[in-house]
Amino acid sequence: MALLAINGGKPVRSASAKWPQWPIHDAGDVALLTAITKSNRWSFDGPYEWQFAKEFAAYHKSKFGLCCANGTVGIQLAMEALDIGAGDEVIVPGMTWQATAAAVLDVNALPVLVDVEPDTWCISVPQIEAAITSKTKAVIVVHLYGCMPDMTKIQKLCKEKGLFLIEDCAHQHGAFWKGKGVGTLGDVSSFSFQESKVLSSGEGGFNMCQDRALFERLYSLRNCGRGYKDDMTHAIQSGNYRLTEWQAGILLGGLSRLDSQVKLRDENAMYLNKQLAEIPGITPMRRRKEITQASYFNFAFRLDWTKIGAKGLTNAHFCAALAMETGAGFEPPYEPLNACGLYKPHTKKRYKISGDYWKKINPKRFSLPHCEDAHRNSGVAVHHHVLMGTKKDMDDIAKAVAKIVANIGELNPEGPTASRKRYRALV
Ligand SMILES: Cc1ncc(COP(=O)(O)O)c(C=O)c1O
Repeated sequence: MALLAINGGKPVRSASAKWPQWPIHDAGDVALLTAITKSNRWSFDGPYEWQFAKEFAAYHKSKFGLCCANGTVGIQLAMEALDIGAGDEVIVPGMTWQATAAAVLDVNALPVLVDVEPDTWCISVPQIEAAITSKTKAVIVVHLYGCMPDMTKIQKLCKEKGLFLIEDCAHQHGAFWKGKGVGTLGDVSSFSFQESKVLSSGEGGFNMCQDRALFERLYSLRNCGRGYKDDMTHAIQSGNYRLTEWQAGILLGGLSRLDSQVKLRDENAMYLNKQLAEIPGITPMRRRKEITQASYFNFAFRLDWTKIGAKGLTNAHFCAALAMETGAGFEPPYEPLNACGLYKPHTKKRYKISGDYWKKINPKRFSLPHCEDAHRNSGVAVHHHVLMGTKKDMDDIAKAVAKIVANIGELNPEGPTASRKRYRALV
């Protein structure tokens, strides 16, 4: 008789056991949105926007911070603030959402994709070193799956080589490295407030920096080029990348809950990782000791098939089985950017700046073996809402993983697989 739920066996978690929902709001948020609606102050530079910007920056111990339209634009503005553009190369990890590299294309710079570390899926320092040329202007790091790259080494390397360091923090609002907030560890950072993110206004973004001149330039870039405080003598070329007061209102509500939610996820992740580490063939993601608070947009772990001992199976089979045991949406991590269905530079004429550039933006020319292994073979990931449950919920996940490993012979290489789904509006 089959034991695994995917084959008709009894699932570890009954269908009636619900996972926490995301996003979350409360009556205070609704009251604030009503007040904003009645205020007739709906657009940019309103009181709630600046209150939020100040408080969100202060939480991360950042000197400066300001809202923008979304996390894709945030990366673009970060580069434009640093005067990165045509002729420049920007080093980007091959494991990330396509926006990180697409933003580089949108400033006419060249995204140079490099591989990640196998145990954190974050950008690898030796791979950055190997990719630096005389044209390199910046490195973009992406903090993913509760992990961070070796920021101390990357800060040192960027300083030595005269490169800008940009942090894509779309996944890690509220993470801290040696007590310093993410977003404050480089020159400019970008956050996303899209619906699935750990702080959300449906859509939205944010930039942080530690330098007044950069802050004022970011302000101009997001506001049609206007100088800070309407100083038209310092106007520059730009467009409209602003956020509304309603978005700021809902962000203020979310911010009041952010710290306790980040801490809850971090506590549950540590509790779950301890149990996962005991299961043969299961390896938790590496948590660097410098991470003083981890923040999870997605939680992940890795499969070692040589220890699990099955042939012809992949992480996609494992994720499908785990989803059936738990009722949660387990899936492989991001597609590597050299084979990503939504990173297709050659579909846009705008990027046909020259024959040479057109050739160099071909993602297929980059080799990303660790990104490929994580996506196609070893990685298992799930959205952060499952980390907002109880210890019993974490026990259920660990039990389900152990059950699948113990009964791996039941999984059929021809059987169902899980692909990257979207957690509701997850991009
Ligand atoms: C790593 C990463 N960077 C950037 C972005 C872009 O953010 P947005 O969707 O707000 O444009 C995302 C969005 O999912 C992301 O995951």
